[in-house]
Amino acid sequence: MEVIIKPDYDAMSKEAADIIADLLYGKPNAVLGLATGSTPLGLYKELIRMHKDEGLDFSKVITFNLDEYIGLSASHDQSYNYFMWDNLFKHVNVSPENVHIPNGMAKDIAAFCEWYEDEIEAFGGIDIQVLGIGGDGHIAFNEPSSSLGSRTRLKTLTEETIDDNARFFEKKEDVPRYAITMGVGTVMEARKCILLANGEKKAATVAKAIEGPITAMVTASALQMHPDSVFILDEPASTKLELKQYYEWVYKNKPERA
Ligand code: PGA
Repeated sequence: MEVIIKPDYDAMSKEAADIIADLLYGKPNAVLGLATGSTPLGLYKELIRMHKDEGLDFSKVITFNLDEYIGLSASHDQSYNYFMWDNLFKHVNVSPENVHIPNGMAKDIAAFCEWYEDEIEAFGGIDIQVLGIGGDGHIAFNEPSSSLGSRTRLKTLTEETIDDNARFFEKKEDVPRYAITMGVGTVMEARKCILLANGEKKAATVAKAIEGPITAMVTASALQMHPDSVFILDEPASTKLELKQYYEWVYKNKPERA
């Protein structure tokens, strides 16, 4: 597990964009796992800039999103489908048929989830999975007590997540109670995971995920078991890390940098 601490949000976003761009230059048909929320907005902005200014090509890229609210159609402005088109896809040359986002309106949710898992496998698995972290330590919508072996399924959101996300809705009652989410087990099969976190509000949760015990109570902690996971933090999100100085030392002294 690698921990990269950047001075601010923009530098955090740029670091993540560089990792993705490096992948796409080497593998134009890479499979990207993508996340929603406020955290990756800077990353998506930077990818759009790289597409426009540097010709970063998305024409062969395959995408799979982590999750979607149940009951919101793709055209609902708070659906994750809408979010992805609004904040990334419509600004780059991705092919709509290569985009996969869980269908929150699926009639048979269990069958849809099974199909989604099969589809990820059919495309050869996810090369890089982008992740945020919830205040309750979740990755995707894998709320505390989610099995660390879980697969794509319906999940009931916690009060904390509903409160956190109420800021995007007119009123709290409008926030859906359920979501379709990739499981922790699904995420862990990605060849590389990059988790982004910024702001002091996330510092305690980030410390639990990186330095606490591996526990279903903080599903991001499962990444400690991943062979290639990178936490990219801004300075305020790193303030509760016990080994902060060590992570900075490791980053500064990376053998490939010497
Ligand atoms: P945020 O959400 O990026 O809006 O903080 C993160 C998450 O819930 O995974």
